[in-house]
Amino acid sequence: MPTVIFEALDNSDPVHIDAPDGGAIADLCDENDAPVPFSCRSANCGTCRIHVLEGAELLLDAEDEELDVLDVFAVAPPAQRLACQAKMRAGAGTVRIRAVGDDE
Ligand code: FES
Repeated sequence: MPTVIFEALDNSDPVHIDAPDGGAIADLCDENDAPVPFSCRSANCGTCRIHVLEGAELLLDAEDEELDVLDVFAVAPPAQRLACQAKMRAGAGTVRIRAVGDDE
């Protein structure tokens, strides 16, 4: 079963979420109070940038809108993604992510 682990910036306990059917990372965040900030939710602002620490291959490929925003911050997949755009494939594995901090 796919699992998403959201690590917190403040070193509090990570949030573990089982996602048997995969799905949008944003929906998983909303449903589980995961520590990822959002603003526009439409690949415009970059507020929801996340480090993908493990399991990048379990995320669907980024589309042009997401790549354009990441390019503004001089980053790219697989190291970083936008949580408002990233979607997880169904299937076994673990994706471990952490929001990009204000000072990064
Ligand atoms: S919330 Fe603005 S780019 Fe994701």
